[in-house]
Amino acid sequence: MNASLTMVMPDDMHVHLRQSDMLDLVLADTVKQFARAIVMPNLNTPIISTKLAIEYRNMILNSLGKVKDGLKCFEPLMTLYLTDLTTTDEILKAKESGIVFAVKLYPNSVTTNSHVGVVDIFKNCYKVLDMLQMIKMPLLIHAEVSDSRVDIFDRESVYIDKVIIPLRKKYPELKIVIEHVSTKEGVDYVYSSPNFTAATITPQHMLYNRNIIFSGGLRPHYYCLPILKSELHREYLVKAATSGDKRFFLGTDSAPHDTKAKENSCGCAGCYSSYNAICLYAEIFDKAGCISNLEKFASLNGAYFYDLPINKQTLTIHRNENIVPDKISFKDLNIVPLASGETVQWHI
Ligand code: DOR
Ligand code: ZN
Repeated sequence: MNASLTMVMPDDMHVHLRQSDMLDLVLADTVKQFARAIVMPNLNTPIISTKLAIEYRNMILNSLGKVKDGLKCFEPLMTLYLTDLTTTDEILKAKESGIVFAVKLYPNSVTTNSHVGVVDIFKNCYKVLDMLQMIKMPLLIHAEVSDSRVDIFDRESVYIDKVIIPLRKKYPELKIVIEHVSTKEGVDYVYSSPNFTAATITPQHMLYNRNIIFSGGLRPHYYCLPILKSELHREYLVKAATSGDKRFFLGTDSAPHDTKAKENSCGCAGCYSSYNAICLYAEIFDKAGCISNLEKFASLNGAYFYDLPINKQTLTIHRNENIVPDKISFKDLNIVPLASGETVQWHI
């Protein structure tokens, strides 16, 4: 057993950095492990234009300035929030800005701040989709239907049948990322697509099955969207991620909410994993006997899909048993990190 592991510095290809104090906290944790991150645009005021993306990026750079060496070692990769009204001009502007790397599709009302998400992708977004395909800009999909008649555990597989398969037929070369894939059906769809399709996988969907949400009582800190699935799906995700297959890469979907918003009669969805995400992934790969594939998943496959250079820096993590804190406090914020109270084998 190796006492340490050195790899090309990873990228987090799906993170919610948030704003204000929360941004300072998440960014300080993120730069310890990641050289770059695909930044989600679902702020309270969604990032629906290049102008807003530039402003948000400046906020992030300002926050980075407070982290030691932050400005030198981290690059935020911005995204644009797709709406029914997004124009092809806006997409071109985003591309030309050089700071926007993808467009995020939230189906309307599917999750946090998706109130201006897309109502009808086929009817309202076909010109934008044509443009994205042409300029090779990835479409990042929160692949769940928001139809309340569809069982919450089936929302991803139904979305794949109803939207992704027809979308792929119409746009054969559109770069698509199924974000936070959580089901066997999602993974199988990616396996069936040799080119232009990839998926990010979170630590929570590989560490836990849905029982954890109800173990001994209702545990809101394990509630995220897509919701955790059954053991069969969890095992299938671990196999896909640890295989080294270039279509699967790291995206934490780290999505912090203050304990007041989580421990609530209507608690928010999201798990905070930026505190030690790479160690949680190392734990998963180690247990699967595939630690040698971690670098592909964390540092190479994502860069390859996004046509980005491989990071020059490296990251070393150490085998060193430690307990994840119950709570992280910063100014007025209190956040319960993923795997709080659990013993993990790796340390940054
Ligand atoms: O659990 C989630 N939290 N899933 C999402 O899609 C959004 C995220 C958030 O922003 O809180
Ligand atoms: Zn997310």
